Amino acid sequence: MSIRTLIAGNWKMNGTPEFGVTLAKELTQNFTCDKVDMLICPSFTSLIPVADTLKDGCVKLGAQNVHAEASGAHTGEISAEMLKACGCEYVITGHSERRAAGETDDQVAAKTCAALEGGLTPILCIGENAKMQPAEAQEVLEKQLRASMKNIAVTEGSQVVIAYEPVWAIGTGLVPTIDDLKEAFTFLRQLVIKTYGEEVGSKIRLLYGGSLNAENAADILAVTDINGGLIGGASLKAPSFLAIAEVASQYAERKA
Ligand code: 13P
Repeated sequence: MSIRTLIAGNWKMNGTPEFGVTLAKELTQNFTCDKVDMLICPSFTSLIPVADTLKDGCVKLGAQNVHAEASGAHTGEISAEMLKACGCEYVITGHSERRAAGETDDQVAAKTCAALEGGLTPILCIGENAKMQPAEAQEVLEKQLRASMKNIAVTEGSQVVIAYEPVWAIGTGLVPTIDDLKEAFTFLRQLVIKTYGEEVGSKIRLLYGGSLNAENAADILAVTDINGGLIGGASLKAPSFLAIAEVASQYAERKA
C-alpha cells in the first residue's frame, strides 16, 4: 500500500518573520504538491505571517512544540488550539533537542495526545543518542516509541507521523548507512504494525531526519519504509529544500 510522502522542514530557532515569509514565498511559488506533501515548521513568532503567505498554495504549516494542557497558568507556553488558530496542521513533539533540554517520555506522550485532541498531526521524534549496534539502537527506539505513544489509541495511531532521527546524525553531516536505515525502518514498520495492527501500522508515515540533504536524499528516500524526511539545515534555503522534495516526488511515483 502506498503512503503519501511528507517532506517537512524544521526551521528550529532560525529566522525572523521576514525571513520566514521570504522563504515560504519561494517554496509556495515553486512547488506543486501533486506527488508529495510539503510542510514547514517555523518558530512561533513567524507562524501567522507565514500562514498568510502559504494560504493560496499547497505547502502546509506546523509548529515545533506544543503544551500538553489546553489552557491555564503556563507562562510562555502555547496550546494546540492556539497553533490551530494560527493555521498549523502539524506539530513536532519529542524532538531530541527538547529531550536534551529535559523533556521526558511522559511529557512527550502528553504533548502528542494534546496535539491529536487539538486537531493537529503530531510528528513524534525518536532516536538513539550515540552511534550503536542496530540491535541496541532498536531497543532504544522501541522503548521511546512505546513510552511516547502509550496513550494513543489504535483509532488515532495512523494520525501520528513518526520521525526517526538518530541524534548523532543531526547537524553533523553524518548519516547511517543505507543498510542500517533499511534495518531500522523495517524494524519500526514491524513495531507499529505489532502495536497498532496491520491496518493502522501499515499506514503510519515514517520519516527520516538527520543531515538529510539534496545530495543524499535519493539514496535515503529510496528505502521502502521511509515515507519522507524531517529536515533541519537543508530546509532553510529554498533550493536545497525544493531539491529534496523533487527527489521525493520521483521516489513517490516509483513506490506507488
Ligand atoms: P539537520 O537536517 O540539520 O541534521 O536536522 C535534522 C533535525 O533535527 C530535524 O528535526
